[in-house]
Amino acid sequence: MLLSDTLNRPVRDVRISVTDRCNFRCPYCMPAEIYGDRYEFLPKEQLLTFEEISRLTSLFMQLGAQKVRLTGGEPLVRNGIEDLVAMLTGVEGVRDLTMTTNAYLLPQKAHLLKKAGLHRLTISLDSLDDEIFRKMNGRNFGTESVLKGIASAEQAGFSNIKINAVVQRGVNDHTVVDMARYFKERGHTIRFIEYMDVGTLNGWRMDDVVPAEEIISRINEVLPLEPVDSSYRGEVALKYQYCDGGGEVGVIASVTKPFCGDCTRLRLSPEGQIVTCLFATSGTDLRGPLRDGASDDELANIISSRWRTRADRYSEERASMTEELRQREKVEMYHIGG
Ligand code: GTP
Ligand code: 5AD
Ligand code: SF4
Ligand code: SF4
Repeated sequence: MLLSDTLNRPVRDVRISVTDRCNFRCPYCMPAEIYGDRYEFLPKEQLLTFEEISRLTSLFMQLGAQKVRLTGGEPLVRNGIEDLVAMLTGVEGVRDLTMTTNAYLLPQKAHLLKKAGLHRLTISLDSLDDEIFRKMNGRNFGTESVLKGIASAEQAGFSNIKINAVVQRGVNDHTVVDMARYFKERGHTIRFIEYMDVGTLNGWRMDDVVPAEEIISRINEVLPLEPVDSSYRGEVALKYQYCDGGGEVGVIASVTKPFCGDCTRLRLSPEGQIVTCLFATSGTDLRGPLRDGASDDELANIISSRWRTRADRYSEERASMTEELRQREKVEMYHIGG
């Protein structure tokens, strides 16, 4: 029987965070004042090895998952990440293998990832305005560092590249139309993400969120758009196409139009916990049993018991939550990769 949770949602996507480290310090995710030189990230021995990740991936696929996304932190800072990609392409049942990256290391890595068999890439870039982007990555890197990464991905043969941009009111919302135009001309799909209250560090306020509807209407004024049906159950982006046939743009309206009802995503943290919601307060450990010699059946039992009891629907509940409940200790975004 197919595994499903208390709200009848199967597991379809697995998002694997391979490291809690990142070479950026986006203030909404890893504020530089907190994640400074002395911050202690997970020691290597606590990270799942590539063999452990591959073994768990195989179990997730047997329980119904089909898609795998590698995230971080920044997945490209994990040494030899291309070797993990190659291992995962050999896992039965993996139909879609993709990665979310900030692109900074793609000039060194894109061709290795392609050679290893990675299917797709999603690149995070919040603005094309150099000054704004320098602030938004917290490391004063210019936009050319990411644009070079995108160019390397194209040269390596990746197609269907997606660009993700988080929109914050008063920070980068006035640069949305320029981004849409730029990526329309280059044939890449850009998706604008509503700024979310992930973790506890970014001081999120509802006023900082630019509703997806407003984003679409701003683009539509300049570049006319029409809605497109979603391609599969659980697709997070609402999609639009340019009326002139020039491709698509998406919005991820996780705050104003939550999509928990179809949430089929299971997250695996770098140290081997399964986390069943982006806004979870804790996870379920698999590394302990794994390293204590648990069999595949035993591990599959832990995963399926946890999934069967899952009732998460944070984004749907957000509007009716007290501030105190919303402020509870939540897993940080860089730890579970969005
Ligand atoms: P595709 O397979 O390329 O369509 O990927 P995707 O639609 O899963 O998109 P992606 O992984 O790039 O997710 C984009 C962003 O949407 C993430 O970085 C998160 O910010 C947000 N997001 C993805 N999944 C969830 C989720 O389950 N809940 C919430 N609240 N936000 C999510
Ligand atoms: N709200 C929305 N998106 C976020 N991301 C990181 N933090 C947030 C947040 N608070 C995005 C990153 C990246 C993806 C992994 O998640 O910018 O595109
Ligand atoms: Fe790094 Fe992504 Fe977090 Fe920015 S949002 S600090 S690129 S993990
Ligand atoms: Fe899924 Fe939680 Fe996001 Fe809702 S808030 S879509 S349950 S990850």
